[in-house]
Amino acid sequence: MKATAVANANIALVKYWGKRDARLILPQNGSISMTCDGLSTKTTVEFSGEYRKDTVIINDEELQRDEKDILGHIEKIRGLAAISHHAKIVSETNFPVAAGLASSASGFAALTMAAAAAAGLELSQKELTVLTRQGSGSASRSICEGFAEWHKGNSSDGSDSYAESIAGRDHWPGFRMIACIVSEAKKKVSSRSGMAQTVATSPYYDGWLKTVEQDIGTIRNGIKSKNFSAVGLTAEQNCLKMHALMLTTKPVIVYWIPATVEIIQHVLAWREEGLECYFTIDGGPQVKVMCLQENEKELQDKLLRLEGVKKTIACRPGDGAALSNSHLF
Ligand code: DP6
Repeated sequence: MKATAVANANIALVKYWGKRDARLILPQNGSISMTCDGLSTKTTVEFSGEYRKDTVIINDEELQRDEKDILGHIEKIRGLAAISHHAKIVSETNFPVAAGLASSASGFAALTMAAAAAAGLELSQKELTVLTRQGSGSASRSICEGFAEWHKGNSSDGSDSYAESIAGRDHWPGFRMIACIVSEAKKKVSSRSGMAQTVATSPYYDGWLKTVEQDIGTIRNGIKSKNFSAVGLTAEQNCLKMHALMLTTKPVIVYWIPATVEIIQHVLAWREEGLECYFTIDGGPQVKVMCLQENEKELQDKLLRLEGVKKTIACRPGDGAALSNSHLF
């Protein structure tokens, strides 16, 4: 009863920021992302009668505070498979955890796929995204290859709130997401509690919901027709609308640090000069710069010359989650 899965992080082009059901993790709106090749998490799960308790080891450290209720997710999978054995879970991530690079998305996607396989559950990809969503919303998109859309759904049991690939990894191989690492510090406000605060307190939340469907349509069509200007500009504006919600939340949520703003200003200036690039930012200070392959090198050189940028990682559209035969223990 052992299985291993590998999943990539994803970066949202249309953001998810707010739930309509916190227990089932049902979102207020749909979202779209790119699955990022090279930002991956590998997780091995074993259920065995020999284990006296559940153990979770992430990047060589035993989990102390289960903020995202990983053990609750494992318990759900045990319930679905009607098994009672305890689990050993070992996970390795090849990029900074909890600093706004979606490590929980790749983590929950790999965990769910590995645990479901280890427990003997046979799930379709759609069912796997529904199950993954119940661990962490954005993780449902990391199951899918290339560009993924997570449908908001309408039913109260969440069965129609699933993710699917809207374009495979080879549909638009020239699309680049350059992750700029400006800080490796753990963020102070989790996405989970931050978005709940926003829904409860931001006076602009209704305004966000009114425009997000249009962003989804523009970006979905833009991906399908490979219209980089439409995708980049709409994704940038969607990100700024989400951060405007954060800034109007009580108590206020500010994920940006000076280096975040420094990159924003440079991206805007480079674009004015004719170098086409756009930015997006999630629940952390890192900035992700979108560009086309032909401008990747020039942009990476420019970004690395900025004082606040410690490291850049350029990603192309990547694979969806997959099982692997090489276990971590
Ligand atoms: C800003 O998926 O981490 O990255 O469902 O509570 O686990 P939970 O939240 P999570 O939120 C991600 C928020 C975001 C935007 C996005 O990825 O769409």
